[in-house]
Amino acid sequence: MQTLIAAEAVQSRVRELADEIRRDHPDGVHLVGVLKGAFVFLADLARAIGGDVSIDFIAVSSYGNAASSSGQVQLLKDLGAPIQGRDVVIVEDIVDTGVTLTYLQDILRARAPRRLRTACLLSKPSRRKVDVTVEYIGFSIEDQFVVGYGLDHGERYRALPHIAIVD
Ligand code: IMP
Ligand code: MG
Repeated sequence: MQTLIAAEAVQSRVRELADEIRRDHPDGVHLVGVLKGAFVFLADLARAIGGDVSIDFIAVSSYGNAASSSGQVQLLKDLGAPIQGRDVVIVEDIVDTGVTLTYLQDILRARAPRRLRTACLLSKPSRRKVDVTVEYIGFSIEDQFVVGYGLDHGERYRALPHIAIVD
Protein backbone atom coordinates (compact mmCIF):
# COMPACT_ATOMS: atom_id res chain seq x y z
CA MET A 1 0.00 0.00 0.00
CA GLN A 2 1.11 3.48 -0.81
CA THR A 3 0.48 6.54 1.36
CA LEU A 4 -1.58 9.14 -0.46
CA ILE A 5 -2.11 11.64 2.38
CA ALA A 6 0.14 11.53 5.46
CA ALA A 7 -1.42 11.56 8.93
CA GLU A 8 -0.05 15.05 9.69
CA ALA A 9 -1.56 16.46 6.49
CA VAL A 10 -4.94 14.90 7.33
CA GLN A 11 -4.81 16.39 10.84
CA SER A 12 -3.94 19.91 9.71
CA ARG A 13 -6.64 19.88 7.02
CA VAL A 14 -9.22 18.65 9.54
CA ARG A 15 -8.31 21.58 11.81
CA GLU A 16 -8.81 24.00 8.90
CA LEU A 17 -12.23 22.51 8.13
CA ALA A 18 -13.14 22.72 11.82
CA ASP A 19 -12.21 26.43 11.88
CA GLU A 20 -14.44 27.07 8.86
CA ILE A 21 -17.33 25.13 10.38
CA ARG A 22 -17.04 26.95 13.70
CA ARG A 23 -17.01 30.32 11.89
CA ASP A 24 -20.10 29.37 9.87
CA HIS A 25 -22.02 28.08 12.93
CA PRO A 26 -21.87 30.64 15.72
CA ASP A 27 -24.94 29.13 17.42
CA GLY A 28 -23.40 25.66 17.67
CA VAL A 29 -23.61 22.72 15.29
CA HIS A 30 -25.24 19.30 15.20
CA LEU A 31 -22.97 16.80 13.44
CA VAL A 32 -24.52 13.80 11.72
CA GLY A 33 -21.87 11.17 11.04
CA VAL A 34 -22.44 8.60 8.32
CA LEU A 35 -21.48 5.16 9.65
CA LYS A 36 -19.16 3.55 9.57
CA GLY A 37 -16.61 5.36 7.42
CA ALA A 38 -16.97 8.82 8.99
CA PHE A 39 -16.37 7.84 12.61
CA VAL A 40 -12.69 8.82 12.75
CA PHE A 41 -13.16 12.07 10.81
CA LEU A 42 -16.14 12.97 12.97
CA ALA A 43 -14.25 12.32 16.21
CA ASP A 44 -11.36 14.60 15.22
CA LEU A 45 -13.59 17.22 13.62
CA ALA A 46 -15.93 17.45 16.63
CA ARG A 47 -13.04 17.99 19.04
CA ALA A 48 -11.39 20.56 16.78
CA ILE A 49 -14.63 22.55 16.33
CA GLY A 50 -15.13 22.80 20.08
CA GLY A 51 -17.91 24.73 21.76
CA ASP A 52 -21.53 23.69 21.37
CA VAL A 53 -21.23 20.51 19.30
CA SER A 54 -23.75 17.68 19.43
CA ILE A 55 -23.43 14.38 17.59
CA ASP A 56 -25.68 11.79 16.03
CA PHE A 57 -25.17 8.96 13.56
CA ILE A 58 -26.99 7.56 10.57
CA ALA A 59 -26.17 4.47 8.50
CA VAL A 60 -26.99 3.74 4.88
CA SER A 61 -26.15 0.91 2.53
CA SER A 62 -23.05 1.50 0.48
CA TYR A 63 -20.63 -0.47 -1.69
CA GLY A 64 -21.18 -4.23 -1.69
CA ASN A 65 -24.87 -3.93 -2.36
CA ALA A 66 -27.14 -1.90 -4.58
CA ALA A 67 -25.71 1.57 -3.86
CA SER A 68 -23.07 1.81 -6.55
CA SER A 69 -24.72 -0.08 -9.38
CA SER A 70 -28.38 0.85 -9.28
CA GLY A 71 -28.29 4.16 -7.47
CA GLN A 72 -30.58 2.75 -4.80
CA VAL A 73 -29.64 3.71 -1.26
CA GLN A 74 -31.15 2.10 1.80
CA LEU A 75 -31.46 3.54 5.30
CA LEU A 76 -29.96 1.03 7.76
CA LYS A 77 -29.97 3.09 10.95
CA ASP A 78 -31.85 6.31 11.49
CA LEU A 79 -30.92 9.29 13.68
CA GLY A 80 -31.54 9.14 17.40
CA ALA A 81 -33.08 12.62 17.63
CA PRO A 82 -35.09 15.06 15.50
CA ILE A 83 -33.17 17.76 13.60
CA GLN A 84 -36.00 20.21 13.00
CA GLY A 85 -34.79 23.80 13.40
CA ARG A 86 -31.19 22.76 14.03
CA ASP A 87 -27.95 23.71 12.26
CA VAL A 88 -26.86 20.36 10.88
CA VAL A 89 -23.65 19.30 9.18
CA ILE A 90 -23.56 15.86 7.57
CA VAL A 91 -20.10 14.35 8.10
CA GLU A 92 -19.10 11.81 5.46
CA ASP A 93 -15.81 10.10 4.69
CA ILE A 94 -15.85 10.38 0.90
CA VAL A 95 -18.10 11.55 -1.91
CA ASP A 96 -17.69 9.34 -4.95
CA THR A 97 -20.66 9.16 -7.35
CA GLY A 98 -22.64 11.44 -5.01
CA VAL A 99 -25.60 9.04 -4.89
CA THR A 100 -25.33 8.34 -1.15
CA LEU A 101 -25.00 12.00 -0.17
CA THR A 102 -27.84 13.11 -2.41
CA TYR A 103 -30.09 10.56 -0.72
CA LEU A 104 -28.98 11.67 2.75
CA GLN A 105 -29.40 15.37 1.99
CA ASP A 106 -32.90 14.70 0.61
CA ILE A 107 -34.16 12.73 3.60
CA LEU A 108 -32.60 15.10 6.15
CA ARG A 109 -33.79 18.24 4.39
CA ALA A 110 -37.33 16.84 4.53
CA ARG A 111 -37.07 17.04 8.34
CA ALA A 112 -36.74 20.82 8.19
CA PRO A 113 -33.38 21.60 9.81
CA ARG A 114 -32.67 25.34 10.00
CA ARG A 115 -29.50 24.77 7.98
CA LEU A 116 -28.09 21.68 6.29
CA ARG A 117 -24.49 21.58 5.16
CA THR A 118 -22.09 18.75 4.32
CA ALA A 119 -18.46 18.01 5.19
CA CYS A 120 -16.50 15.28 3.37
CA LEU A 121 -12.90 14.46 4.08
CA LEU A 122 -12.36 13.26 0.51
CA SER A 123 -13.95 13.80 -2.89
CA LYS A 124 -13.46 12.03 -6.21
CA PRO A 125 -14.90 14.65 -8.61
CA SER A 126 -14.19 12.57 -11.75
CA ARG A 127 -16.56 9.85 -10.47
CA ARG A 128 -19.59 12.09 -9.92
CA LYS A 129 -22.91 10.86 -11.36
CA VAL A 130 -25.10 13.38 -9.57
CA ASP A 131 -24.30 17.00 -8.90
CA VAL A 132 -24.28 17.26 -5.11
CA THR A 133 -23.34 20.30 -3.03
CA VAL A 134 -20.57 19.79 -0.45
CA GLU A 135 -19.61 22.93 1.48
CA TYR A 136 -16.53 21.52 3.21
CA ILE A 137 -14.14 19.23 1.30
CA GLY A 138 -10.85 18.08 2.82
CA PHE A 139 -9.06 16.81 -0.27
CA SER A 140 -10.03 16.15 -3.89
CA ILE A 141 -8.38 12.99 -5.15
CA GLU A 142 -8.08 11.00 -8.38
CA ASP A 143 -10.19 7.96 -9.16
CA GLN A 144 -8.35 5.58 -6.84
CA PHE A 145 -9.67 3.29 -4.12
CA VAL A 146 -8.41 4.57 -0.79
CA VAL A 147 -8.45 3.32 2.80
CA GLY A 148 -7.55 4.53 6.26
CA TYR A 149 -8.82 7.22 8.65
CA GLY A 150 -12.17 5.41 8.82
CA LEU A 151 -12.32 4.15 5.23
CA ASP A 152 -12.18 0.41 4.70
CA HIS A 153 -11.63 -2.28 2.15
CA GLY A 154 -13.63 -5.30 3.29
CA GLU A 155 -13.66 -3.86 6.85
CA ARG A 156 -9.86 -3.63 7.01
CA TYR A 157 -7.60 -0.57 7.41
CA ARG A 158 -10.14 1.74 9.09
CA ALA A 159 -7.73 2.39 11.97
CA LEU A 160 -4.83 3.67 9.84
CA PRO A 161 -4.01 7.29 10.74
CA HIS A 162 -3.26 8.21 7.10
CA ILE A 163 -4.98 7.73 3.72
CA ALA A 164 -3.50 4.97 1.57
CA ILE A 165 -4.11 3.58 -1.90
CA VAL A 166 -4.99 -0.10 -2.09
CA ASP A 167 -3.23 -1.99 -4.85
P1 IMP B 1 -21.21 7.31 -3.51
O1 IMP B 1 -22.66 7.10 -3.24
O2 IMP B 1 -20.79 6.66 -4.79
O3 IMP B 1 -20.78 8.76 -3.46
O4 IMP B 1 -20.44 6.48 -2.44
C1 IMP B 1 -20.00 6.96 -1.28
C2 IMP B 1 -19.59 5.81 -0.37
O5 IMP B 1 -18.83 4.81 -1.06
C3 IMP B 1 -18.69 6.35 0.70
O6 IMP B 1 -19.43 6.75 1.83
C4 IMP B 1 -17.80 5.15 1.00
O7 IMP B 1 -18.40 4.35 1.99
C5 IMP B 1 -17.73 4.37 -0.30
N1 IMP B 1 -16.48 4.65 -1.04
C6 IMP B 1 -16.36 5.33 -2.20
N2 IMP B 1 -15.08 5.39 -2.60
C7 IMP B 1 -14.36 4.74 -1.65
C8 IMP B 1 -12.95 4.50 -1.49
O8 IMP B 1 -12.07 4.87 -2.29
N3 IMP B 1 -12.60 3.80 -0.37
C9 IMP B 1 -13.51 3.37 0.55
N4 IMP B 1 -14.83 3.59 0.44
C10 IMP B 1 -15.26 4.28 -0.65
MG1 MG C 1 -19.39 6.30 3.78
